[in-house]
Amino acid sequence: MPGKLLTRPRASAQGALTKVSEQGRGLLVPAKLRAIDKARGRGRHRPILERTLAFPLARRWHGGANPRDSSAYRLWLAIFFVAHTVRGWASNADPDVASPKFLGAQSCSSSSCHGGAGNNRNQYLVWSTRAFHHLRPYATLETARSERIAAVLRIANPVQNRRCTVCHAPFQTVPAGQLRQEAKISEGVSCENCHGPSENWLRSHTRPDWSTEDRVHAGMRDLRNLYVRANTCVACHQNVDSDLQQAGHPELIFELDGQAVSQPRHGRRSMDRPGPQIWLVGQAVALREMSWQLARENSPSDKLTARAAGLFWLVQAASKAEVQWPQIEPDAFAPTADQIEKVQLWSDQFAKGVSEFRWSEEQTRKCLALLAGTGGVFGETRIPAPLHARRAERLVLGLDRVVSGLGSAAVDIALNRALDRLFDATQSLPDFDPNQFADNLKEFNAGVSRILDSK
Ligand code: HEC
Ligand code: HEC
Ligand code: HEC
Repeated sequence: MPGKLLTRPRASAQGALTKVSEQGRGLLVPAKLRAIDKARGRGRHRPILERTLAFPLARRWHGGANPRDSSAYRLWLAIFFVAHTVRGWASNADPDVASPKFLGAQSCSSSSCHGGAGNNRNQYLVWSTRAFHHLRPYATLETARSERIAAVLRIANPVQNRRCTVCHAPFQTVPAGQLRQEAKISEGVSCENCHGPSENWLRSHTRPDWSTEDRVHAGMRDLRNLYVRANTCVACHQNVDSDLQQAGHPELIFELDGQAVSQPRHGRRSMDRPGPQIWLVGQAVALREMSWQLARENSPSDKLTARAAGLFWLVQAASKAEVQWPQIEPDAFAPTADQIEKVQLWSDQFAKGVSEFRWSEEQTRKCLALLAGTGGVFGETRIPAPLHARRAERLVLGLDRVVSGLGSAAVDIALNRALDRLFDATQSLPDFDPNQFADNLKEFNAGVSRILDSK
């Protein structure tokens, strides 16, 4: 798709200066789950991924928006079923059984809860006055553009069709019994679509004697956990079925850090993990999703293949910044079922590994040096230009996040100009010139060396 591809999310360098907090580091598994946890090896996140259905798209996770559709996983699931039906746990593996209800945003909106002013009380106001996820996604379905997309797909009314509402107005796809009357479809992407259906935790989640594990056990998502957070957002922000795209739906590029910065912020930024870490977890999860889509489509388009290959290249390159992270061979990406599954599994493991990692400033610097030093790659003539373009597209988004992760050190006019030129060079895919980009990247890299050396 020609035309505008990337906009640079301009977070202030300050906004990205965060201290590594313990808060986001995974979950302790609640006692009741420990036995299952052992069976799984490491099941820290299963309370979220397998127990609760926060919005219907979660079915895609169950159906395999991640390695959970691999044959190994299915085998595991079968064993799990047999072992735990007896103990009454079967419902946990089946998202349709006894799923808790969605109560709607108004249950969060009283002024003494999240509809007030001030510190940690204003989430409802932030969400309802700044409409990324509130009125806008729903309203989009009523635009002329949606009408055109729908006409191509022979969809009568996008506002009532789950092919659209699953992302733009997820309450529309929730079975009536799971939706309290007050929950309105026009809420668009509502609190519970990210935080989990609140029936079992609404009344208790503020109790001082409830721990994070208790809340998660009751179905609240631990969005401080980066892996969980990335899974939540990526479900709507990366894969769009090819026929939707051919009908004119915009191509989606998932980038967790930048999108989380530009999404109306309602959590406490100061408690969050460093931006570059958030970015990398998001990219790995996006790669897992894209390889899932590749595996699922019978004859994936060259475009989809190139996009996934470009992202694979980036994540693989970044994985070299830390030996403890799961590794994969640089040439592992190939459009065969085996290789795609391998990439899918690896990217999921990698995302988990990075999300649990203690990310230091040193890590940010290593990552930056590594990525900025990839200029030589763009001179390789055996790589087709469209693939170079897809690599570049993801690379510049990443450079931007890693640079802002340096905080005040990155307030360097020349470096930022060089970064702007990299963004300009990736604006139009058909016009992408790998040699030009390689030159721009070398210039940028010189700026990076200057900054890293001066500290
Ligand atoms: C249930 C689906 C869904 C989930 C989950 C979701 N989004 Fe969105 N988001 C959307 C839709 C649909 C839009 C498009 C709104 C419109 O119509 O313009 C959107 C728009 C946005 C936008 C503005 C457009 C853009 O891409 O820059 C940002 C930023 C964003 N979302 C960030 C996030 C983040 C961060 C998360 C996870 C914490 C998240 N979203 C989770 C569906 C979702
Ligand atoms: C997988 C989730 C998903 C599905 C399914 C989906 N969308 Fe979207 N859609 C999004 C997201 C996310 C955006 C925001 C893209 C951005 O701003 O970068 C978006 C953007 C759009 C836009 C452009 C909005 C703008 O202001 O630029 C239109 C129009 C649209 N969607 C219509 C539809 C229609 C019609 C359908 C059903 C045929 C549909 N979408 C299905 C996630 C989805
Ligand atoms: C698009 C997804 C999304 C939507 C919609 C959403 N949130 Fe959040 N929310 C998040 C993420 C991500 C965080 C960050 C986790 C963190 O840093 O603690 C968060 C954090 C929070 C926090 C914790 C703040 C803190 O400092 O610990 C509260 C409370 C909250 N949200 C309430 C709400 C309410 C109420 C609504 C609806 C009015 C809502 N959220 C809608 C994604 C979302």
